[in-house]
Amino acid sequence: MKGRGLDMKFKMLHWLSLLSLSLTLLVWLGHVITQHDPMVVVQNRGLRGYMRITPHRTEQFLDLHCNQCALVSSSGQMLRTGAGEEIDKFDCVIRMNNAPTRGFEQDVGNRTKVRVVSHTSVPLLVKNESYFFQQSANTTYVVWGPDRNMRQDGKGHIFNALLKIAKSYPKVRIYTVTKEQIQYCDSMFQNETGKDRMKTGAFLSTGFFTMILALDICDRIHVYGMIDDNYCSRANHGDVPYHYYEQGRLNECKMYNVHEHAKRGGHRFITEKAIYAKWATHHQIEFKYPSWSL
Ligand SMILES: *[C@@H]1O[C@H](CO)[C@@H](O)[C@H](O)[C@H]1NC(C)=O
Ligand SMILES: *[C@@H]1O[C@H](CO)[C@@H](O)[C@H](O)[C@H]1NC(C)=O
Ligand SMILES: *[C@@H]1O[C@H](CO)[C@@H](O)[C@H](O)[C@H]1NC(C)=O
Ligand SMILES: *[C@@H]1O[C@H](CO)[C@@H](O)[C@H](O)[C@H]1NC(C)=O
Repeated sequence: MKGRGLDMKFKMLHWLSLLSLSLTLLVWLGHVITQHDPMVVVQNRGLRGYMRITPHRTEQFLDLHCNQCALVSSSGQMLRTGAGEEIDKFDCVIRMNNAPTRGFEQDVGNRTKVRVVSHTSVPLLVKNESYFFQQSANTTYVVWGPDRNMRQDGKGHIFNALLKIAKSYPKVRIYTVTKEQIQYCDSMFQNETGKDRMKTGAFLSTGFFTMILALDICDRIHVYGMIDDNYCSRANHGDVPYHYYEQGRLNECKMYNVHEHAKRGGHRFITEKAIYAKWATHHQIEFKYPSWSL
């Protein structure tokens, strides 16, 4: 009798623990579903933070997922890395603005899946439209910009230029970062720094939008050519051009320091790097050339 009583108790315990385990799972799942950021949730196919510009203005969101991404910085750090072949092996290679590959293949590779483009760089792409929208027709373009340039009521001159391109090259995938997604990026900056981005007189950089896009579409991110937030304050740091394709012009650290302390209109490149270091502690992000010790 005593043995059977114990047996029953064990069975009860077993069932109770199973029940509580499944309850925990349910609660956790509910949490995951409700807590997940709405802009990252794949709904109606695609990421709602990125809206395609189509000739007929139909609603399409960015539907792209990569296991492994190379995020290639435009920094002079890329020069003489010889990282081109390694970069080209990843499913998705992400670049910024008009950063060229031709002539720099050895260091930066020659494939481009996505280009994240600032509104200020759009005229540079348009100037070379046969290269960017014909020869590189397989590249997806994601353009960010303030509402005054990107508004879709006919008064946004950058949006208008992109719509014209979308009409001339209907196969090319051009997306805009939505107003809501830009606000989300601002809130990410504020959350990490405790500072209102606008009140500090700063603009987010194309790199910041690119990192958030990469977090949205890539399982693992390999960042090439990005310096960490302490690099420029180290005694004998390297001295490279701000852009690998504009040699002999601006020095990277000088540029970063000017921007970091600009009262108005600067990019907080250095603060942004400190934010990436935080993200790298809970996302799959690796930094190379130079590598970061996290
Ligand atoms: C660039 O592309 C060509 C052919 O598409 C390939 O053979 C070459 O190895 C690529 N990579 C580099 C680093 O040039
Ligand atoms: C267009 O871009 C390609 C690739 O970067 C470059 O080789 C070419 O010189 C550019 N053409 C013009 C007219 O800027
Ligand atoms: C784009 O990709 C398709 C399919 O992979 C390929 O057949 C085509 O040649 C590519 N076009 C360009 C311009 O690279
Ligand atoms: C805000 O930052 C904290 C600390 O880094 C992080 O745990 C949290 O997920 C962030 N919230 C959002 C909405 O990104």
